[in-house]
Amino acid sequence: MELNGKVALITGGSQGIGRAYCNYLANEGVKVAICDINETEGLLLEKQLNKEEKRSVFIYCDVTNNTEFEESFRKVISEFGQLDIVVNNAGILNDHPNSWEKEVEINLCGTIRGSLLGLKYLKHGGAIVATSSLAGILKDSAFPIYAATKGGVNYFMRSLGFSEAATAKGIRTLAIAPSLTDTAITEQLVGNNTMCPELQLVAQKRSERMYKQKPESVAACLIYALKEATSGSVWLVADDNWQQINYDNLLH
Ligand SMILES: NC(=O)c1ccc[n+]([C@@H]2O[C@H](COP(=O)([O-])OP(=O)(O)OC[C@H]3O[C@@H](n4cnc5c(N)ncnc54)[C@H](O)[C@@H]3O)[C@@H](O)[C@H]2O)c1
Repeated sequence: MELNGKVALITGGSQGIGRAYCNYLANEGVKVAICDINETEGLLLEKQLNKEEKRSVFIYCDVTNNTEFEESFRKVISEFGQLDIVVNNAGILNDHPNSWEKEVEINLCGTIRGSLLGLKYLKHGGAIVATSSLAGILKDSAFPIYAATKGGVNYFMRSLGFSEAATAKGIRTLAIAPSLTDTAITEQLVGNNTMCPELQLVAQKRSERMYKQKPESVAACLIYALKEATSGSVWLVADDNWQQINYDNLLH
């Protein structure tokens, strides 16, 4: 896919991996819509990207609110005249018994919502992408609910990518599955975010032990996958390197 001149909508684009996506896409000549509930960081990024020419717009958007989400799609198209790439990236890490449903709502339902809107509003083909996680390929014994949302994202993007719903419209789907990455979400690894108190120590120890890769490595994988990858593929980004996951091996 040639990226120069395209328009992308990125949820959770204000900070972390989403911000790196926006920067890397803009570098490729893509106009970016930063859709997020973090207005302060989002407006800052919009300003930075628009220094020399209009390359971005910040749109307040909560991916759990379908009306607001659909309005964001309309705003992007009215601002830039087209939409070619949707990146479902917004996510949280919180398995606490009082708030886990919100995690499912944002991570999994938000991705499905954004993808359905993508199928409706990508009029000339394009790509629908999601940020999943290594936790959704292997397992995450400290955060089983988070792992379930990300496993769901991987299998949704994989299945949709081979489905007539996307292929008939010339739309490719991709999942980018990072391992631990140095962003604000890692602060949620410590604290009262696990299903039960016993898991807090497991999460904390892992956070201290594991290497945190750069968000830019995840963004570099996104650019590569948008240019080269086949529909329904899942890309693992670990230790600042990426590789495609070969699910076909599971059958042999
Ligand atoms: N950092 C990691 O170690 C890691 C590893 C694997 C996967 N991921 C995934 O990467 C994605 C980006 O996370 P990150 O690491 O950059 O964390 P982050 O916390 O820095 O960024 C998440 C962004 O999502 C936004 N967001 C949260 N709820 C939202 C909502 N309801 N509507 C719209 N936006 C919302 C936040 O405001 C924030 O800007 C997430 O889906 C996360 O699960 C992160």
